Formats: sequence, structure tokens, C-alpha cells
Amino acid sequence: MSTILSIQNLRKSYAGGFDALKGVNLDIEEGEIIALLGPNGAGKTTLISTVCGITMPTSGTVTVAGFDILSNYREARSLIGLVPQEIALEPFEKVINTVRFSRGLFGKQRKDSAVEDILKRLSLWDKRDNQIRELSGGMKRRVLIAKALAHEPRVLFLDEPTAGVDVELRKDMWEIVEQLRTDGVTTILTTHYIEEAEAIADRIGVISKGDILLVEDKNKLMARMGKKQLDVQLTSQINAVPDALAAYDLTLGDDGWTLIYSYDVNAERTGITMLLNDVQKAGLQLKDVVTRQSSLEDIFVSLVNQPEAAQ
Ligand SMILES: Nc1ncnc2c1ncn2[C@@H]1O[C@H](COP(=O)(O)OP(=O)(O)O)[C@@H](O)[C@H]1O
Ligand SMILES: [Mg+2]
Repeated sequence: MSTILSIQNLRKSYAGGFDALKGVNLDIEEGEIIALLGPNGAGKTTLISTVCGITMPTSGTVTVAGFDILSNYREARSLIGLVPQEIALEPFEKVINTVRFSRGLFGKQRKDSAVEDILKRLSLWDKRDNQIRELSGGMKRRVLIAKALAHEPRVLFLDEPTAGVDVELRKDMWEIVEQLRTDGVTTILTTHYIEEAEAIADRIGVISKGDILLVEDKNKLMARMGKKQLDVQLTSQINAVPDALAAYDLTLGDDGWTLIYSYDVNAERTGITMLLNDVQKAGLQLKDVVTRQSSLEDIFVSLVNQPEAAQ
């Protein structure tokens, strides 16, 4: 695999001095699907807009297949398709014309077979002669993707493609992205839905306050950071963890009815058997024992909520 998009030390300060991107580094491999996960205001749209040439970077470099987005703007931009966060379509235009027009904007020759192919792939072929205003919300989103693909880009950016859409349409979108991958399209999508990143991405980047906090293979991330938690429910309430159990670093939950033990999923020894023995030795009686695996959501929340110390 080769790097299709390279972002180096990208900074963006808006007029007024707000630092929306604080030195972002990110390399993206051809054919991968990467999700940039971050809360509102994290800088996701700013990052995409800067890469797509809508916003000027303050400093840093971005190259697409080796073309610099500033010095080789046309070449770089022609390799990128962008589906913006906001739906902006001409209501009275026909579907097919709006897609043809997008292609024309990139100076590409009219190629009906390419437009037909894109419309078919997005299940819009039957609607090609309909006006945009006649389409459902889901169809309009598909038109946005069709427009972004009209000039046959190699990299597709989807900025919050499923914000506010229903579950069914969300799954449709995920399928479209997966389908595009088989055609060799690299997809970068932003989302604040953890389940979306979990469902479709090969890699997940977590972005918060203008910084990429980490970028990692999804499965590795879950395995590395995933902690399991054991809840030891007691038959009687206690008001402190007994000294005899200090070594286990337990916390007291549920108003003193539960001892909570965190352990590493990947550890050879979890220490659970010993813990349960020692709990009983300390004179406590078990009512029940429950394990929980921390989800990507827990990981995300703990990352994004870290204090702002290291900047
Ligand atoms: N044109 C602008 N001028 C000044 N500040 C902006 C502008 N656009 C975005 N911002 C600020 O930059 C930060 C990141 O915004 P944005 O990239 O839209 O975040 P996200 O897409 O992750 O929600 C926010 O605090 C936002 O208010
Ligand atoms: Mg945004």
C-alpha cells in the first residue's frame, strides 16, 4: 500500500486568533477507510476544508498522491471528492445534470458512461430525470455523494455523512463506503458517532481541540485500551475498601454495595481468582460477580476528557 494523503504539521488559526488545528500529522494509505472521531468543535470540518482547499492553512503541508495542495492545487484537488456537512443542492435541477455539472467543474470532459456508473452505484439511476426537490432526504444525500464522485476522485471525504439521518440510511451509507473501497476509493469520514467509527473504519483517529490525540487500527485500539471491569456485588454495605484488599486498587461503587476491579484484557493473569479469595478472607460475602468490557465509547470519553496539560 502507498500513502495517498499526507498531512504534516498542519495548523490553522482563524482570523481573530483561534487555533482550530494545532499541528496535525496524518498519513493515509490508499484504499483504507479512516474515521476521524471527535466532538463538535474539535476541528474536523476545518481539517477537511483545509485539505480540500476551501480554507487556507496557516502553516504545514498537505500532499495528495504527492501533489501539494497549494503549489499543485489543480492536480491535488482533482484527486479529491468532498461531501460537505451541509446539504446544498439546486432544488429545480435534475439529478443527472447536477452530477454532470460537478464533473465539468473539474474541467473533465463529459463522460456519460462515468456518470451513469456513479448514479447506478448509488441507486439513483431511476431518479436521474427527477428534480432534486422531488427526492427524499436520503436520496439527496446520495446525490451529494454522486456529485463528489463525478470527477472520479481517488480520495473521498465525507464530513459527518450521517448526522441526523435515520438508522436505515446510516447503514446504507456504510454500505456505499464499503462498496467504493472495492473500486479503490480511499475514504476519510468525520463523525461524532462512535458506533459509526466502530462499524466501518479500518483506522480511527480521535480529534479533540485541534489535535489528533491518536490514530490507530480499530481492532488494535480496542484490544490495547480495552479494559475489563469486574463488579463484585456484596451482601452487605461497606463504607470503605478493607485494607486487606488495598493491593487490588479497587473502587467502591453503588453506595458501598459493590467493589469494582479493573484488569487488562490482555494480561496473562487477571488476578480474579485471588481477588475473590481475598474478598472472602476479608469477611465479605459475595452476592454476585459481573464483568464488563469497556467499549470504544469509554476509550473515547477518557481520551477526550483528559486535562489539557500536554499541548
Ligand atoms: N470561519 C471560522 N472562523 C472562526 N472560527 C471558526 C471558523 N470555523 C470554525 N471555527 C471554530 O473552529 C473550531 C472547530 O470548528 P470545526 O472545524 O467546524 O469543528 P467540527 O467540525 O469538529 O465540529 C470551533 O471552535 C469553531 O467555532
Ligand atoms: Mg464539522
